[in-house]
Amino acid sequence: MQNVVFDALVHGVYIVTTRLGDKVNGMTASWVAQVSLKPLLVMASIAPPRYSHDLIKESGVFALNVLRQDQVDLGKRFGYKSGRKVDKFAGLDWLSAASGAPILPQAYAYLDCKLTDTFTAGDHTLFIGEVTEAKILHPQSAPLVFKKGDFF
Ligand SMILES: Cc1cc2nc3c(=O)[nH]c(=O)nc-3n(C[C@H](O)[C@H](O)[C@H](O)COP(=O)(O)O)c2cc1C
Repeated sequence: MQNVVFDALVHGVYIVTTRLGDKVNGMTASWVAQVSLKPLLVMASIAPPRYSHDLIKESGVFALNVLRQDQVDLGKRFGYKSGRKVDKFAGLDWLSAASGAPILPQAYAYLDCKLTDTFTAGDHTLFIGEVTEAKILHPQSAPLVFKKGDFF
């Protein structure tokens, strides 16, 4: 199988955040999609070794922060290091969604979610969340589209 063909699939770039007690964390994810209209469900595909994986499973909440075109730097900040070792929010402004998950006020939009299901899919886990609150914060900008060359 030619893995390069998968570059043809178009993704956005999201910071998936969560909160467990007083611990907050976020990670970059591009394998994210809407999967139902009624109820409004979204899916984030997250590998088990990620710190976020266990935090979301335990807390039952997550938020999707939709990055803007000029926020590749935020994608890198949350995508290369683990919250097990560093506080990725240090020095950043953030707000709490109703669920308690961090919202980046500079993001294009956010969706606050309640975890409804998890499914094992190969080497990832699909986290299904019901959207409880959603808002476009900067309608004059545009969401970032993932292009491999921009990141790696
Ligand atoms: C552009 C980009 C997209 C990514 N997409 C995903 C993804 O969809 N699922 C995933 O499990 N990891 C993805 N990652 C990797 C995680 O963001 C990375 O392993 C992160 O350090 C995990 O953080 P944590 O251990 O604090 O949860 C992506 C990384 C980048 C740079």
